[in-house]
Amino acid sequence: MKIAQTVEEMQAAARGARAAGKSSGLVPTMGALHGGHLSLVRAAKAACDMVTVSIFVNPLQFGPHEDLAKYPRDFEGDSKRLEAERVDCLFAPSVEEMYPESSTTYVEVEGLSQRLCGGSRPGHFRGVATVVAKLFHIVEADKAFFGQKDAAQVAVLRRMVRNLNFPVEIVVCPIVREPDGLAMSSRNAYLNPQERKSALQLHRSLNEVQRRFEQGERNPTNLIEAGKQVLAQDPGVRLDYLSIVDPDTLAPVRKLTGKSLVAVAAFVGGTRLIDNVVLRA
Ligand code: PAJ
Repeated sequence: MKIAQTVEEMQAAARGARAAGKSSGLVPTMGALHGGHLSLVRAAKAACDMVTVSIFVNPLQFGPHEDLAKYPRDFEGDSKRLEAERVDCLFAPSVEEMYPESSTTYVEVEGLSQRLCGGSRPGHFRGVATVVAKLFHIVEADKAFFGQKDAAQVAVLRRMVRNLNFPVEIVVCPIVREPDGLAMSSRNAYLNPQERKSALQLHRSLNEVQRRFEQGERNPTNLIEAGKQVLAQDPGVRLDYLSIVDPDTLAPVRKLTGKSLVAVAAFVGGTRLIDNVVLRA
């Protein structure tokens, strides 16, 4: 596996593959890799000749009081995992490499960026869109792989790709869960045993919403209330939002027709976790 630490090295590797007629896939990550990340890597390996995984803890998408400094980092372990998956190239630039002092250009997907996590984390999606736009330019992949776990991120990036005509196809992979249902996340490493139990409440609340929906409940307010009640059963969980939105516009839905996204974000201790489920009417 080639490890590229500079933009120039990465561009050279990408150009080499392109010249050899290889199709190329990109899996952007912030490292601390788990089964969710590896599912994207496997999907990319199945679909593309050359697979690049990027590991970059992107300061631009963290708020001033968020967990940038303590975000889990395990470059050795991650490299071994990617090597075992037969990844072709690991792009792991430094912050200075990605954002030299002269970096003052940002990508803002207006409207969408303020919704769901964008509402509680101002500037978050601007940071995500900016770094992913840079990665798309540097790697020039044909396909880029993202997880449904971050459903709002997918909506923002799909819109960006469409609006700015990036020649890349976005492929979305299902949420990978622990055996008890907790969505895998690098941030699960922050949870102590008690919090780990409380964290399951997010999945339980979504299950309850889905159950009521399958029983015929179609009023979004009632469904949201049912989900919130499950979260409220555990004093260790503090709700950020539980919303039912259109998966493309992220606007709250008034009527459940077609596909609707039920998205939840909650704090368990100091850790902010997210999860979601799609309802199909
Ligand atoms: P990160 O949180 O490291 O996630 C990288 C990719 O893995 C994202 O597309 C995310 O949706 C996916 N992922 C995480 N947990 C998953 C799970 N349990 N099942 C399936 N996929 C999962 O998302 C980011 O990094 C960053 O915002 C990034 C796109 C890299 C830009 O900095």
